[in-house]
Amino acid sequence: MNNSPNSLQTVSIIGTGVYLPEKIVTNDDLAKVVDTNDEWIYSRTGMRERRIARDDQATSDLAAEAAKAALADAGISADEVDLLIVATLSPDMFFPSTACFVQEKIGAKNAYCYDLGAACSGSLYALETAKNQIACGAVKTALVIGAEKMSTFIDWTDRNTCVLFGDGAGAMVLRATGAKRGVMNGTFGSDGSLAALLQTPGGGSRNPMTHEMLDRKEQYLTMGGREVYKHAVKQMTQSVRDALEINGLTSDDIKSFVAHQANARIIDAIGKRLNVEDRMFMNVEKYANTSAAALMIAVDEVVKSGEVQQGDLMLLVAFGGGFTWGANIVEWTKGSE
Ligand code: ACO
Repeated sequence: MNNSPNSLQTVSIIGTGVYLPEKIVTNDDLAKVVDTNDEWIYSRTGMRERRIARDDQATSDLAAEAAKAALADAGISADEVDLLIVATLSPDMFFPSTACFVQEKIGAKNAYCYDLGAACSGSLYALETAKNQIACGAVKTALVIGAEKMSTFIDWTDRNTCVLFGDGAGAMVLRATGAKRGVMNGTFGSDGSLAALLQTPGGGSRNPMTHEMLDRKEQYLTMGGREVYKHAVKQMTQSVRDALEINGLTSDDIKSFVAHQANARIIDAIGKRLNVEDRMFMNVEKYANTSAAALMIAVDEVVKSGEVQQGDLMLLVAFGGGFTWGANIVEWTKGSE
């Protein structure tokens, strides 16, 4: 679906921030707990290490640190935030929302808060949701966070999945700034018929928390790796093409392509199909797949490294469980307001 709102105001990212747990777990560390090795992991995923949160940290703790960094970067205080969205598949609890916990931790007392569930595409969906609420004048300032404590939902005895994920959080502050383009029109889609390929099957109303469910280890993420790979490459490639088309741009107009950091081979394959390999950003080597946090962490790194300058365009593209996918183009405007 093409989402082309009748934007009354152009919306910009005015600040970004991240939080990455201190603990680094390398591929060699994982080889001590499951039957794997650095060569297998690196050659198939491009990952060397990932961050793992402390036992006393929940997703909202990671999210709150990223949020504080983004607010400081934007130069605004927490009580200026009107809308706070947390994209996550690893919430602190089923309810209340992780966003409400973050609100309390950072003192965003004037915000209304909710979580958004679109798995690894979640932060891109949250960005779009917040943008539209600002564009139509419903709110002035939004704080969008992607945060995950994936380590809680991973079976650390399953080498097929435990090597792929990490913990972390990234955040953005959004406002209307009068910039020329800001966060442009996005394209989004979902296919619920493929839900079984990537899910956490236990613990919800379909398959409640019982001793038997826990014995079957259904509280952990499951994945059809090869199928996920194929769909991720296909849908993210198409989403990039669609985002360029609906905004009247070509790939030559884009300074940096920032894809969900699922796997280096997925990102490389998209880059090759679009002939933009040299502009595909990648940091999966350091953090592995941090699900909804990955895109936010990546954008922060791109903009803070100086890779994009004021007026440059970034194309953000994501794919995740559901399946869900989407892409958007963002004019980097920080400093122009
Ligand atoms: N170490 C060593 N061997 C392993 C490991 C491991 N960590 N994990 C699996 N293997 C073995 C399997 O048991 C299997 O062995 P078998 O053939 O004896 O049964 C074999 O390796 C499979 O190897 P390949 O077929 O070469 O694996 P493949 O190239 O498909 O790579 C991978 C697997 C990395 C999971 C790939 O399919 C992939 O990247 N899929 C996408 C998954 C993904 O990104 N998921 C993230 C969530 S979705 C998202 O964020 C977009």
